[in-house]
Amino acid sequence: MLPPYRIKVVEPIAFLSAEQRRMAIASAGYNPFNLRADQITIDLLSDSGTGATSDAQEAVAALGDESYAGARSWFRFRDQVGSLTGYPFILPVHQGRAGERVLFSNLLKPGQICVSNTHFDTTHANVELVGARPVDLPCAEAADLDSSEPFKGNIDLDALEHLLDGPDGGKVGLVLMTITNNGLGAQPVSMANLKATSELCRRHRIPFFLDAARFAENAWLVHEREPAYRDMAPRQIATTAFGYADGCVVSLKKDGLSAVGGFIGLRDEQLHAACEANLIATEGFSTYGGLAGHDLERLAQGLREVVDPWYLQARAASTARMAQLINDAGVDTVQPAGIHALYLNAGRLLPHLSPAQFPGHALGCQLYLDGGIRCAELGSLYLGAMDENHQLVTPAPFELVRLAIPRRVYTDTHLEYVAAILADIAKDPERVSGYRIVSAPPILRHFKVRLEPLT
Ligand code: F0G
Repeated sequence: MLPPYRIKVVEPIAFLSAEQRRMAIASAGYNPFNLRADQITIDLLSDSGTGATSDAQEAVAALGDESYAGARSWFRFRDQVGSLTGYPFILPVHQGRAGERVLFSNLLKPGQICVSNTHFDTTHANVELVGARPVDLPCAEAADLDSSEPFKGNIDLDALEHLLDGPDGGKVGLVLMTITNNGLGAQPVSMANLKATSELCRRHRIPFFLDAARFAENAWLVHEREPAYRDMAPRQIATTAFGYADGCVVSLKKDGLSAVGGFIGLRDEQLHAACEANLIATEGFSTYGGLAGHDLERLAQGLREVVDPWYLQARAASTARMAQLINDAGVDTVQPAGIHALYLNAGRLLPHLSPAQFPGHALGCQLYLDGGIRCAELGSLYLGAMDENHQLVTPAPFELVRLAIPRRVYTDTHLEYVAAILADIAKDPERVSGYRIVSAPPILRHFKVRLEPLT
C-alpha cells in the first residue's frame, strides 16, 4: 500500500556498536526513558509528538500569528476543531494531560468515580490527583489477546450499567472513552458501543466524554470493520463519534500530526467558563492555551491531513504488514493489529521469566541491546502492584511490550529491520535475562525507575 507522500527533509539516525549500546543502557539504569535520542537507531517509544509534518504544515506555520489574544491562528484552529467535533466551546492546551487536569479539576469531585474502557496512565494519574477514583471496564473480549474480535477497545456495557445501577452508581462523575484504546492493544471502539454508552450515560445524567487522541485511527478501523460505516469517510465517522459525547479531551500530539498541542471540546457553557478560568491561570489565555501561533497553524492543517483515507489506509497497512512479519517470526502480538502500535506478548515469548523478573521490560532491553530499538514495557513493571521494597505483589494481567509507530517517519524497511531483530531474539529467547528494580518513584513508576539485570 503506497503512502500518499514522499520524503523531502530527513534526519540522521545513530548506529552504535553492541558495546556502546550495552554501556548506554547500563548507564540509563536499564530504563529506556533515560536513553539519549542519539543513542537510538529506531525509536518506537511513543507515537506522541514524534510524527513528521508536511510541507503544507510548515508553509502555514509561517502564517503563525503570535498576538497574545485573539490571534488569527487561533480562529483558524478553532474553526477546524469546531467543524470536526461539532462542539461549540473549544479550549486549546499544550498537550493532552494539561487538558485532563483542567477538565477533571472542574468536572470531578473528590470521592467520585471516573469510568473508562481503559484510562491512559496520565489520565489515570490526573483522575487520582483530583481525589477521584479511576475504574477501568474493558469488554470481556479484550482479555483474549489472540482473538481477532474487531472491537476489543469497547467498554463493557453490562458492567457499566451494573455499576451505574448499583450502590456506587451515584458516585460516578464521568464516563471517559479512550479511542483507540491505547492501554489495551490499540484496539478500536465501535460506533455501536459509543452510541450505547452515550445513551446509558444520558439516562443516568452522567457526563460522557471522549479521550480522542487517536480519533482518526479509530475512525479508519470503524470504516474497515463496522459494516454500517463502510461508505462513510473517516472524517465523517470521527464527527459522528464526537457527536455522541458531551465533550472531549484530546492530545493532538498523535492525530494532530504535530509535536505539541491539544484541546478540550465542550457543549456545556458553565463547564466551559470554569475550565476557561482555570486554563487562563495555568496554561495561558484561552486563545492560545500554551501554544504558539505557528503550532495552532500546523495543527489546523494536520487535522485536515490526518483524515485523508489514503494516508490512514497506508498507515494501517504498514502496521499490519509489520505485525505479520513479527508473527511469522514466532512472536505473538495482540490481535488484531491496530494502527499506532503493536503490542508484543513478551510473557509468552519468555516463559522462563516470571512476572517479577519483568519479561516485557527484559524484551524491551534486548531489542535495544541487539538493535538499538527503543520501546515501552506494558506489563508488571508499569502496571503491577509493588510493596515498599519494590517487590511485585500483584502482577499485571499481561506482560506486553509496545512498539509505537511514529506517523510518516519510518519506512517499511525500518520496520522490517525491527522484525528481523525480534526474529533473532525469538530463535533463542532463553538468552534474555530478567531484571530487578534498584529504585523507583512513588507514582508513574515506569518513567523514572532504575533496574539491573539478574545474573
Ligand atoms: N490519552 C491517551 C489515550 C494517550 O495515549 C495520551 C498520551 C494522553 C492521553 C496524554 O496526552 O501526552 O499529550 O499529554 N500518550 C502518549 C503515548 C504519551 O506514548 O501513548 P499527552
